[in-house]
Amino acid sequence: MNTISRQLLPWIKVVLAQAVVLAALWAVHDWLPSAGAPLVFAAMLLAQGAAAALVGRMIGLSAFWIPIQLLLPLALAFSAEVPAWAYLAAFLVCALIYWNSASEQVPLYLTNRRTFEALGALVETTKAKSVVDLGSGMGGVVLYLAKRYPRTRVRGVETAPLVYLAARLRLVLARQKNAELLYRSIWDEDLGAHDIVYCFLSPVPMARIFEKARAEMRPGTLLVSNSFAVPGEEPAEFIDVADGRRTRLYLYRM
Ligand SMILES: C[S@@+](CC[C@H](N)C(=O)[O-])C[C@H]1O[C@@H](n2cnc3c(N)ncnc32)[C@H](O)[C@@H]1O
Repeated sequence: MNTISRQLLPWIKVVLAQAVVLAALWAVHDWLPSAGAPLVFAAMLLAQGAAAALVGRMIGLSAFWIPIQLLLPLALAFSAEVPAWAYLAAFLVCALIYWNSASEQVPLYLTNRRTFEALGALVETTKAKSVVDLGSGMGGVVLYLAKRYPRTRVRGVETAPLVYLAARLRLVLARQKNAELLYRSIWDEDLGAHDIVYCFLSPVPMARIFEKARAEMRPGTLLVSNSFAVPGEEPAEFIDVADGRRTRLYLYRM
């Protein structure tokens, strides 16, 4: 399946799940109570969304889509009532989360648990003392590795303001002494300080990341890229993770 079909498929399932629920409601509409007050109407739309979320799960949509499915009927029915400032606020929140999408062409998506475990195995076999996650998102990799390997210093660097704040809060609450999170661009991090440099970015910065890694990293240390290979460079090794999205980790030894 190509990238466009893969991206479209969840949306097709969303529409399908909503359509199934709408059709079921249509079939029984004579027995349904009339909507009446706006609050009752809103509650009915929420119930419709919840049913669509359930159908969505049954046809393979991930949990990520539950809030979208839940709120979709409500959002469509009340779209005219939404004040203009709410759109601006939503735009600002999105901008503070997807801060690096326009400039670096790197959006936010997160490393999954199986990949955490594969990274953990790498930390163990290489006896890495210092690991950095370039663009650490919600801090999941940093926290996982820091908790499992208390003798390894694990750093995350991130510049999307809301994402950084949320991850910072997670780290403060976890009180993990060997974990740190810096509001710093990946281009300003000294890669020579780390035994493993991990990144999950996009195809766009990979050539520049590799150039930086080659200039700064010590011999024998590892650059690990989740999903995105460095163009024109043969990885020393790759690891295929047994997860749903068939993650591949590309390992470049300096
Ligand atoms: C695909 S996410 C990966 C998040 C995390 N590493 C994980 O695997 O769960 C990429 C992250 O890199 C961040 N990012 C992109 N360019 C950056 C830059 N120049 N400096 C710091 N962070 C950056 C984005 O904001 C985003 O949170």
